[in-house]
Amino acid sequence: MKPKCFVSIQKAIVFMVLLVIFLQVFHIYLMLQEGNPIVGERNHISGWDQIMRKIRDACVTDSSGYYFILPDILGSRKSQSSGTHDVAVATHTTSNNLQNLVQLNERWQGQISISVLTQSHDAEYALYLIWRLHECHEDIQRKVIFHLVFPVWSHKDIINTTPHEIHCDKKLSMKAHYENFEIGELQYPHNILRNLALKMVTASFVLVMDIDLLPSANLSSSFQADIINSKIASNQTAYVVPVFETGEGDNIPSTKEDLLTDRNIQPFYINVCPKCQNQTNYKKWKYLRKSDKLQLAFELQWKYPFEPFFIASKSSLPLYQERFKQYGFNRVSQICEMHVAGFNFSVLNNAFLVHKGYKMKNKFYSQKDVDHHENRQRYEEFKKVLESSYPDSKRKC
Ligand SMILES: *[C@@H]1O[C@H](CO)[C@@H](O)[C@H](O)[C@H]1NC(C)=O
Ligand SMILES: *[C@@H]1O[C@H](CO)[C@@H](O)[C@H](O)[C@H]1NC(C)=O
Ligand SMILES: *[C@@H]1O[C@H](CO)[C@@H](O)[C@H](O)[C@H]1NC(C)=O
Ligand SMILES: *[C@@H]1O[C@H](CO)[C@@H](O)[C@H](O)[C@H]1NC(C)=O
Repeated sequence: MKPKCFVSIQKAIVFMVLLVIFLQVFHIYLMLQEGNPIVGERNHISGWDQIMRKIRDACVTDSSGYYFILPDILGSRKSQSSGTHDVAVATHTTSNNLQNLVQLNERWQGQISISVLTQSHDAEYALYLIWRLHECHEDIQRKVIFHLVFPVWSHKDIINTTPHEIHCDKKLSMKAHYENFEIGELQYPHNILRNLALKMVTASFVLVMDIDLLPSANLSSSFQADIINSKIASNQTAYVVPVFETGEGDNIPSTKEDLLTDRNIQPFYINVCPKCQNQTNYKKWKYLRKSDKLQLAFELQWKYPFEPFFIASKSSLPLYQERFKQYGFNRVSQICEMHVAGFNFSVLNNAFLVHKGYKMKNKFYSQKDVDHHENRQRYEEFKKVLESSYPDSKRKC
């Protein structure tokens, strides 16, 4: 289906002419009203109307034309400078995991930019939840920017979504139906969602992470105070935040002290892909000398398949490759580009992330191995592209 915003040239010209005439008339009107300033009598637009208007007017798609991309559906970005700290979280989810935003918002004091993927049947729940989160949490209104992504073909269904009443003091009464990565027939487009969230961040530094991770306490304020303000922040360094996992429903430690004494904690992905995080050098990190300040502890040499989470300069960060959908290579491809582009990787002494739940080999969706195999081929192609994009780089993936 063709996005609706492509109008013919003639229509555009007629529209422009009418617009000019209107502006002239309006101008004359204003001059006649001299000394009688028009009082702003803009209607109060409720969150729901705002969302539905953006959906009706949807016209921008991703580069493949498959998804509509709706940045900042609640119009929050304008009213936020970059918040109190110049480092933001960029993240993405379906309606299934959106509830995690509540906890993330409590842990992270800076801005949060979040892309939500939905489609026809899911939209009623997804939109209700976004609206509810926005209406019921003053902090979310102040810090979070929501973006919506859905397939162009589901526009006709989503446009008719009806609102549900919100009672902030009552428990959520609606449930989503889909498992992660199995949103009906949709493929999960991690990197379209990540790029959208990333581009909409107004802070200069960004931590791109998954919605089911929680950062250590005060990470954004200490990064601001100890790294940005002390002028040691570099555009070409990835500040690695070591990542762990814990059992479903376990308490999530917020300080390094608590983390190190928590018996449920283990390195992230240790059962699925130990090599993916091992380069973090957990042991060295654990035995670092104690410090109240956030500091750069040690440098790492990146090599495949190391997949760290990190804070980096938003403007220098390469975008994610949108050709990777579903499972595999969607993050490592970007990290490999950073390596080739000259980024260094430096581990932060006190910062960490914890994933809620252990990643297990048998807990993935059924198509995972097929997707992984296809993405491996895309990764091989992408490595060749990198060689020609960075001809002078001595680094390889
Ligand atoms: C986080 O910062 C607040 C305010 O500065 C402080 O009161 C609190 O103790 C800090 N928490 C941790 C775990 O460092
Ligand atoms: C980092 O990038 C920003 C934006 O491109 C630029 O203004 C700034 O000068 C750069 N800083 C350094 C240290 O290169
Ligand atoms: C990265 O590390 C190498 C080796 O330590 C150093 O020569 C280079 O200047 C560093 N690059 C940046 C951007 O810090
Ligand atoms: C993990 O890294 C340590 C040192 O950083 C190394 O000694 C160990 O062999 C590595 N383990 C795996 C499974 O790669």
